[in-house]
Amino acid sequence: MKEKLILGIETSCDETSVAIVKNGKEILSNIVASQINIHREYGGVVPEIASRKHMESFLFILKEALDKAGISLEDTNGIAVVNGPGLKGSLLVGLSFAKAIAFALNKPIIGVNHIEGHIYANFLEHSNLKTPFISLIVSGGHTSLILVTDIGRYQVLGNTRDDAAGEVLDKISNFLGLGYPGGPIIEKLAVKGNQNAINFPRPLMKSPNFEFSFSGLKTAVIYFIKEQKNKNVSLNLDDLCASFQQAVVDILVYKTISAAVKYNVRQIALGGGVAANQKLRDELKEKAFKKDLEVFSPPKELCTDNAGMIGAAGYYKLMRGMVDSYDLEVYTE
Ligand code: KG4
Ligand code: ZN
Repeated sequence: MKEKLILGIETSCDETSVAIVKNGKEILSNIVASQINIHREYGGVVPEIASRKHMESFLFILKEALDKAGISLEDTNGIAVVNGPGLKGSLLVGLSFAKAIAFALNKPIIGVNHIEGHIYANFLEHSNLKTPFISLIVSGGHTSLILVTDIGRYQVLGNTRDDAAGEVLDKISNFLGLGYPGGPIIEKLAVKGNQNAINFPRPLMKSPNFEFSFSGLKTAVIYFIKEQKNKNVSLNLDDLCASFQQAVVDILVYKTISAAVKYNVRQIALGGGVAANQKLRDELKEKAFKKDLEVFSPPKELCTDNAGMIGAAGYYKLMRGMVDSYDLEVYTE
């Protein structure tokens, strides 16, 4: 097979990332410039600042990605760019650069959905993942169960009705004054705590559909913290984090396995920033094993936002002729 090099571009939120991906599975470079330190002091991502930072750093990141891969722009066979969902201003920066490159070099442009990208992060690592499979995408913006029927073909089984799983981790961490992003901070404290210490609710866990709801859990945790304060009881942060994290993990694992059983598929692929959580990875694997299901998860650095996953998705779409024209637009949700 002739080798195909895809330039991947990811600027949907607060990471400016450019990657060179070979044949959809080999990362030649994947440069991620995180703006986390800038947004941290605001307790979350400030859209206006995010767009400006993408604009400032994009060409430097592009150059670094090309240098590391040892190629020039002319060597690429397609430009894969995330065009939604995400922050409008941030997406527009990446898409504008992508269009300029594609136009100047007469290369195909391939729009990639951000969630689609998270799914394809799995193909960078696992060659034995085959459609159809169930994918659980859990991040700061999304909690979705998706039946991937074929390359580029998806059936969304359910989303969250309110907060995303990562969003509640971030909000509780913020409420406790622990910092941003909350997921990794809570995970670290949870390791030392007792997951059965506090019995938090698991909303919609056993509902007969594949929708999620995390806002009730968030309220219960906040209520518990306030109540302890009012009673002058000192908080055991480790126990609190372990119990809260366990509630989130239980909901995600239960729903995902139910979906695989209902749709009679044997493989499950995790993705999104929350998929970097070791407890989620371990429990999903363990519970799935009992039902004879196989679980795939990307390496942790490919769970959070990066352009490698966009390049991978772009390759498979290009191979299927799923290319876009210069009127490609961004969408926010
Ligand atoms: O995919 P991502 O980088 O960006 C979005 O598309 O949102 O995900 C970021 C989210 C944040 O909510 C963050 O707290 C969460 O992923 N996260 C984690 C972990 N690492 C990142 N959540 C739980 N455990 C982790 N280790
Ligand atoms: Zn993401």
